[in-house]
Parts: sequence; C-alpha cells; structure tokens
Amino acid sequence: MGWLVEALVALILLSLCLAITESAPESALVTNLPGFNGSFPSKHYAGYVAIDKERNKNLWYYFVESERNASTDPVVLWLNGGPGCSSMDGFVYEHGPFNFELTKTKAPRLHLNRHSWSKVSNIIYLDSPVGVGNSYSKDKSYYITNDTQTASDSYAFLIEWFKMFPEFQSNPFMRISKRKSNKDVTKPVINFKGYLVGNGVTDPVFDGNALVPFAHGIGLISSELFEETKAACKEQYYKSENTTNECSDLIQKVYDDVRLLNLYDILEPCYHDTSITTFDIGSLPPSFFMLGKTERPLPVRKRIFGRAWPLGAIVRPGFLPSWPQLLAGSSVSCIDDRVATAWLNDPAVRKEIHAKEKSEIGRWDLCTNQIHYTQIAGSMIEYHRNLTLSGYRALIFSGDHDMCVPFTGSEAWTKAMGYKVVDEWRPWMSNGQVAGFTQGYANNLTFLTIKGAGHTVPEYKPREALDFYSRFLAGEKM
Ligand SMILES: *[C@@H]1O[C@H](CO)[C@@H](O)[C@H](O)[C@H]1NC(C)=O
Ligand SMILES: *[C@@H]1O[C@H](CO)[C@@H](O)[C@H](O)[C@H]1NC(C)=O
Ligand SMILES: *[C@@H]1O[C@H](CO)[C@@H](O)[C@H](O)[C@H]1NC(C)=O
Ligand SMILES: *[C@@H]1O[C@H](CO)[C@@H](O)[C@H](O)[C@H]1NC(C)=O
Ligand SMILES: *[C@@H]1O[C@H](CO)[C@@H](O)[C@H](O)[C@H]1NC(C)=O
Ligand SMILES: *[C@@H]1O[C@H](CO)[C@@H](O)[C@H](O)[C@H]1NC(C)=O
Repeated sequence: MGWLVEALVALILLSLCLAITESAPESALVTNLPGFNGSFPSKHYAGYVAIDKERNKNLWYYFVESERNASTDPVVLWLNGGPGCSSMDGFVYEHGPFNFELTKTKAPRLHLNRHSWSKVSNIIYLDSPVGVGNSYSKDKSYYITNDTQTASDSYAFLIEWFKMFPEFQSNPFMRISKRKSNKDVTKPVINFKGYLVGNGVTDPVFDGNALVPFAHGIGLISSELFEETKAACKEQYYKSENTTNECSDLIQKVYDDVRLLNLYDILEPCYHDTSITTFDIGSLPPSFFMLGKTERPLPVRKRIFGRAWPLGAIVRPGFLPSWPQLLAGSSVSCIDDRVATAWLNDPAVRKEIHAKEKSEIGRWDLCTNQIHYTQIAGSMIEYHRNLTLSGYRALIFSGDHDMCVPFTGSEAWTKAMGYKVVDEWRPWMSNGQVAGFTQGYANNLTFLTIKGAGHTVPEYKPREALDFYSRFLAGEKM
C-alpha cells in the first residue's frame, strides 16, 4: 500500500451511499470558519479519530459533504503525500470548498470555490501519519514511521471513520459486500472502487528516466545535447552502477539548463526572495529560493515546500529527508505557503476545525520536519497491477508542465504495464477545448495529461480538474 505515500498523491475511495449524515457526530460539525461569512454549501465536519486503544495515535480529518447529493455521491479520501505533507494542501490550494485570498491584514478571506471537488463527491482530507498537519501523538516515537505503518494507520482510520459516519456505508450499492459484514456487524465494509494518482512518484527507473526526454520534448534543452546524452547514457538516465562519467556529466548539463525554472510548473515565473540570507544559498538549487508572481486574482503558489525530491524523483528505499531537515533548522522563508500557514495556525480557526492548540501539538506546517520517514515499499508498479487486476478503476493523471514528476515517466510506466490499449491516445475536451491527452488501457487503467498544468493539477487547472474528476467518478469516458 505504499501508493498511499507517494509525493502528492490522491487516493480515492468510492463508497456509494444512501441516507444523509444523520448519525454523524454533531460535535465534529464545523459551523463557522474565520474569513468566511457566507453559508456553507454543504455540511463540514472535522476532528480527531483515535486509531489505537490507548488513544495515542490521533489522526485529524476535515470532511466535506457533497454539495450535490451526499447520500449518493462517492466518498473520496484525499492524501497529499509528501511524505509528511498535510492534506490541507489540497483543501486550501487545490480543490477544497473555498478559494483562499491572502489579505493585507494576514487574515485570509475565503470565497466559495466553483470548482470544488465537493461539487460531485464527499471528500475526506486526512492528515497522515501522526506528526503531520494536525495529527499528533503524545508519544513521539510514533513519529518514526514508514510506508507500511502509514498505510495501515490510514486504513485503521477509515475503519473508525466509517463507524462514526455509518450512514456513508449503509446503502444499496453496498449490498454486494454485505456478506462480509454479516459476520461482524460493527465492522464497516469499505466499498473500495478505485483511485487516482496525480503526478505521483512511482518507480525509480521510469521516473528516473523521465526528465531528459521531457526537457527535450518541451524545448528546454537543445537537440544536440539530447542526442549526445541519449547516446552516452544509452537512454538510461537513471543513476546506476552502470552510469558512465560521460553520461553523468551530460545529465549535469541538462540539470544546469533547467535549474532556474520553477520545478513544479515550468510555465510559472519565479522571483528571488531577497529576505533569504539566513542560510547557504549554494547548497540548494536556485529555484528553491524563488517565489513567483502571478496575474491571477487568487494566486497559485510558486514554491511547494516538500520532501527533498530531486530532479528525476526516485523511490529508492531509505530515509527521506525533508527540506527543513536538509537545512538543519534554518528558517525557510522562501516558501510561499502564507495563506495556509496563517489560517491554520490562527487559534480561532483551530477552535472551529477542532484541532488541538498549538501549545499542545505544535504549529501547523504544510510539510512537517517532525517525522522521520523511511521508504520501504519500492516501486509502486506491482501495487498498481494488483489493484487494477482486482477490478479497481485507476486514473493516473499528470500535469504536463510539472518537472518534479514529469508526465513522460507516468506515460512510460502505464504503457509498460502491458495492458491492451482500448482507447488510443487522443485529446480530451473540457469546456469545448482540448484540455490534454489520454490513453485508455484494459482493466480500467487510464492515463491522462492536463495541458499546461503543473504538479498540483487542480491548483493550476481547476475547471479541467473538476471535469476529469467528475467523469472518472461517474465511470464516464474522458
Ligand atoms: C461579508 O459579506 C458581505 C456581503 O454579504 C460582504 O460585503 C463583506 O465584504 C463580507 N465580509 C468579509 C470579511 O468577507
Ligand atoms: C439523493 O439521491 C437519493 C437516491 O437517489 C434520492 O432519494 C434523493 O432525493 C436525492 N437527494 C437530492 C437532494 O437530490
Ligand atoms: C515500519 O515502522 C514500524 C513502526 O515504527 C515498525 O514497527 C516496522 O518495523 C517498520 N517496518 C520496516 C520494514 O522497517
Ligand atoms: C548493469 O549492467 C549489467 C551488465 O550489462 C546488467 O546485468 C545490470 O543489470 C546493469 N545494472 C543496472 C542497474 O542497470
Ligand atoms: C500482488 O499480488 C500477489 C498475489 O496476490 C502478491 O503475492 C503480491 O505480494 C502482491 N504485490 C504487492 C506489491 O502488493
Ligand atoms: C471497468 O469499470 C466498469 C465500471 O465500473 C465496469 O463495469 C467494468 O467491468 C470494468 N472493466 C474491467 C475490465 O474491469
């Protein structure tokens, strides 16, 4: 289940439901949010779920009921991954019910988001594992964690969550799995239907080989450098014991050409934040010290504070440091997560969303440095194979201007699964325009690009994102 913890991953859990949330815990209801003075389009809940008997592991969630039909729309679990990043990234910056506006007073103003994924689904934003976002443990030894632990904790959370919100598991579509539940009526049946992964790190070789062809195809390096690199590396750009010095030197040249770009969306501009003088600039790629400008009224971020994924992100086993860990305690003032950080650390907000006080569990960080994370799951490809062969629907989507996890890698590994092509590469449309390209495979595996989008697709292309999301949930053709 390592796919739960890829870099910026969306996992989807579809549970077709009936009956409104009458038995949902009243105490978890969110009725008011600082910065927003309208009425909520649907019910919101937030709070903690203790997943162990000792109540040592407390996972925090924010649940948004569907604005369409909560009783029939699917339930989706959203995980931002990282590892170590709060799923409130998705809530604040990507597809939550509000658009957050940064104001001069620093208290963000919230506007309803026309393209919220709660338009068509019930959605749980989960901070996982403990130590991330608002999730916590009194016992800090739980902050030493890994893929399997995180996955089993998230699963334990779901079981408990469905007990708290039983109306989301009692429905006619669940009858298929009723047989299981007859044995133990208190154990909820999770009617798992499928999942989506967006620009997810998947496999060391495929992702490791992705950058060079991406940089060439999209016009960032010369054809001469591309041909030279291709020949010297024998098309194997992933660093291995067979990598020659000539190949490494040429790959370095490719890196040098692209390093000033905004890694998460090569179309977005960058500027140098002059306040960054507190640590050694030479130790990190220059682009990490830059914030972008934008002409959009509610700006998208120009930096994402994540784990230390290098260019050509890898999923090698082992300890995965976060940027703050790399920087050994220096403040990272270049990161533009101001709106989320201001809002989620506001005591008035924390009270409304039922998060423990900062004095008790520490401040909210988009990506925490307090967990010590070991990657053990390796390549995700076999997980995808098992899941798709078990009948779960999968949508592998990719913002085609993300250089962190370039689409070339995702395109290659989905193809390498060897499934029959059932819907040959073609444009897909949104709002009467080409929104990207898609290729459909047997076993309900779909690969989809989003034209002009960066790493966090719904942040850059909210309308198109809601379109493909709705179609996927409804089982429609892209
Ligand atoms: C509250 O809503 C009113 C209109 O209903 C609007 O004029 C006002 O600016 C809003 N205030 C804030 C702080 O959003
Ligand atoms: C939601 O769907 C159920 C089942 O189809 C239906 O009975 C109910 O009227 C719907 N509610 C709304 C508000 O459309
Ligand atoms: C994963 O983490 C858990 C909790 O710390 C630990 O018990 C387990 O041994 C770890 N697994 C591996 C393979 O390291
Ligand atoms: C390195 O080359 C040898 C011989 O061609 C091959 O057997 C081995 O799999 C290669 N290693 C990697 C990591 O590609
Ligand atoms: C895939 O399924 C097979 C057969 O059930 C199992 O042996 C294997 O461990 C699974 N692989 C993964 C990565 O889950
Ligand atoms: C694909 O998904 C559809 C809708 O969920 C389902 O009816 C169909 O059987 C699936 N096809 C395969 C090959 O799993």
